[in-house]
Amino acid sequence: MLDLIRNAVEAPRERAWVSIPESGIPELVSVGLPPAGKPGTATLPPVYPEWLGDRAFAAEHGARFSYVAGEMARGIATPRMVIEAARAGCVGFYGSAGLPLAEIKSGVEEIKAALGPEARNWGANLIHSPQEPGQEKAVIDLFLSQNVSRVSASAFMRLTADIVRYTALGLSRAGDGSVQRANHVFAKVSRAEVAEAFMAPAPEKMLKDLVAEGAITPLQAELASKVPVAADITAEADSGGHTDNRPASPLFSSLCAARARTATRYGLPESSIRIGLAGGIATPQSVAAAFQMGAAYVLTGSINQSAIESGLAQAGRALLARAGPADVAMTPAADMFEQGVQVQVLKRGTLFAMRGKKFHAFYRSGASYETLPTADQKWIDDVLGEPFAAAWAATRAYIQRVNPAEAARAEEDGNKRLALVARRYLFMGAQWAREGQADRVADYQIWCGPAMGAFNEWVAGSFLEPVEARTVRQIALNLMEGAAHVTRAGQLRSMGLTVPAELFSFRPVPFE
Ligand SMILES: Cc1cc2nc3c(=O)[nH]c(=O)nc-3n(C[C@H](O)[C@H](O)[C@H](O)COP(=O)(O)O)c2cc1C
Repeated sequence: MLDLIRNAVEAPRERAWVSIPESGIPELVSVGLPPAGKPGTATLPPVYPEWLGDRAFAAEHGARFSYVAGEMARGIATPRMVIEAARAGCVGFYGSAGLPLAEIKSGVEEIKAALGPEARNWGANLIHSPQEPGQEKAVIDLFLSQNVSRVSASAFMRLTADIVRYTALGLSRAGDGSVQRANHVFAKVSRAEVAEAFMAPAPEKMLKDLVAEGAITPLQAELASKVPVAADITAEADSGGHTDNRPASPLFSSLCAARARTATRYGLPESSIRIGLAGGIATPQSVAAAFQMGAAYVLTGSINQSAIESGLAQAGRALLARAGPADVAMTPAADMFEQGVQVQVLKRGTLFAMRGKKFHAFYRSGASYETLPTADQKWIDDVLGEPFAAAWAATRAYIQRVNPAEAARAEEDGNKRLALVARRYLFMGAQWAREGQADRVADYQIWCGPAMGAFNEWVAGSFLEPVEARTVRQIALNLMEGAAHVTRAGQLRSMGLTVPAELFSFRPVPFE
């Protein structure tokens, strides 16, 4: 029977027949062809990768799989990555956060030119940018003018008028009276309070104000009061980059409970809100587990950064390919250094995480460069690669342009000067990694979660081990196929059959 069980797992698209004899212990009797003369057998339906997840998700977004290649800031998720993900039947999000508007526009144009006007399985990222007033509005205006019909909204702590405007402008009434969406918001969240704001219909006051400004019509406001702001909620567990380090299963359950509460409060069907899972998705087991929990879709991040379509230079991708699951660390974020916000980065092969933490410890102690002991001053000069005074001159020239008040404050405050120079160093660390600057490998800032190491372990010894072979297509197809195998193994086990542990795995193979 073991061989038959192996066949059933390795051919998940075939039906399988199980009989329950007198003993009550189920037996697998046939795979592919119905068994002759075996009364009382039960048929196990096939498992297709396309059936994993919520099929309404794939239908809504014109995708073959309930699989999203997530946005990665500053064009690390390149237009090419989005195009390849969409061509592989997934949904792809462009890493538009942190890019100038002109570059976002040309990226979106590149995607549209490659995929054509009918393609629905792609979108771009709107990141909450409280330090840059007007930026979110400008990005939304750009998305609207470019007909970007899917927007992943991230880092929001509450709803904003621009998101509501984007959703409402896409609403219309279908012939059967239901509300139709042309603009879809995916809300990426790691807390139930934030999720609930996106799961609920837009607040009445916000809609009224938008109507009063002439930004949306009264009909759009009325329709927006009947549907969730975002039909797709991405639960983001411990991930690369900005992360609350939430473990996936409690987060997912918490968001499901939030959905049930919100649906009851507003009289919405629960199925009008889909919850997908991101963070740590890297192996067939993690994909299968997410779907088994009820995730409507999965979203990957870190692992795609090592793919050839990534905007990260080859040197950085090679470092990623050597990482194990524990080779990541939290370190201060360049943009919110003073507030103590951290990001998850690759630890192995670079000293960036340690250096970032040390800069922050100096800052937290209240020191300025001038008050630090000589040994620490030397450490700073060495890490910066130039004397602190020269680094401050370059930093000041930039800050005076973008935030003159902050520059003036730093002239008087040595601790602030130290913070600004450290922020520039952290920022440059990401740029050096993107560009692959050879003499700065020790300073590469590469956002990365434990998913990367789990992926490397899975693909070790397979065709996907070398970074040159890693494409978003091969990564996605192998994960989805592998998840179908693991799901099938689980299906057999849940019928009472003894399934060997090694069948809960899948070795990568090249797909067409
Ligand atoms: C290099 C990198 C950059 C990212 N940039 C963004 C971003 O700009 N906006 C965003 O919403 N998420 C961003 N993310 C998060 C991913 O979209 C995704 O949610 C996350 O990586 C999933 O977790 P994982 O890293 O464990 O796969 C980034 C992740 C990485 C690794």
